[in-house]
Amino acid sequence: MWRSTLTSKAYRFAESQWLGLSRPYVIVFSTVTLDGRLASREGYSRLSCEFDKVRQHRLRSEVDAVMVGGGTVRKDDPLLTVRLVKANRNPTRVIVSGSLDLSPDLKVFVTPPPTIVYSDSGACEAKRGLVETLRAKGVEVVCLEGLTLTKVMEDLYSRGVRRVMVEGGGRLIWSLIKEGLYDEIRLTFSPSVFGSGVSLAEGEGFRGPEAPKLRLMEFTLCECGREIHAVYKREC
Ligand SMILES: NC(=O)c1ccc[n+]([C@@H]2O[C@H](COP(=O)([O-])OP(=O)(O)OC[C@H]3O[C@@H](n4cnc5c(N)ncnc54)[C@H](OP(=O)(O)O)[C@@H]3O)[C@@H](O)[C@H]2O)c1
Repeated sequence: MWRSTLTSKAYRFAESQWLGLSRPYVIVFSTVTLDGRLASREGYSRLSCEFDKVRQHRLRSEVDAVMVGGGTVRKDDPLLTVRLVKANRNPTRVIVSGSLDLSPDLKVFVTPPPTIVYSDSGACEAKRGLVETLRAKGVEVVCLEGLTLTKVMEDLYSRGVRRVMVEGGGRLIWSLIKEGLYDEIRLTFSPSVFGSGVSLAEGEGFRGPEAPKLRLMEFTLCECGREIHAVYKREC
């Protein structure tokens, strides 16, 4: 494996900065095509090699919570647990869903591990039956008056969550970037091109000059010899 650490000292310093935040340290971790897609037009997203999956599970084992958007749980029905590396515990699973358009039969709703769904109080009111079913399954449903990701992060922080891994998808990642609620973006570049589909960040977009800048901290040639894993840090 070939590895280049550009500014490891600066990187360690940056990592420690999160201690001063009043929200968790947020790491976006995704695998993208060369044209920056998380998934193809029809929702195909199996981009990771076996080594990338291990990387993903290792990071899951190093954070307090793993977060995804409602679109990802509906499409992929993921478990979001640590299975490919040894770990003492699973991180808390966090699903953000403004609509609560979620089936109670999704795999992520089998607890433990601890699972939290954040939604809007209006949706909770409209879907009282679902909320009760999820709570009966051991899922914590947090209904926020005016759901924002800032409120979600504040609530997680108040529960002792200090490190969050965000796996996707594009609309959730866009919302986090737009609200400045991220610290690192770790991407594995898979050597394929979808040409359309779900981008890493799916939203209204920034005007060019206003786009946030990131600093490349580290990049690694994956053990498979075909992918590059890169770590970017948000410029302060
Ligand atoms: N390649 C990878 O590494 C990777 C990783 C993860 C996912 N994916 C792929 O990404 C695709 C899904 O991406 P996506 O962009 O369609 O969906 P997504 O980002 O997973 O979920 C979007 C949904 O999350 C909720 N949400 C996000 N931001 C919100 C906010 N600010 N306030 C309230 N709710 C918010 C809403 O849920 P509701 O709709 O429930 O209201 C929204 O519709 C799937 O095909 C999946 O396979 C790929």
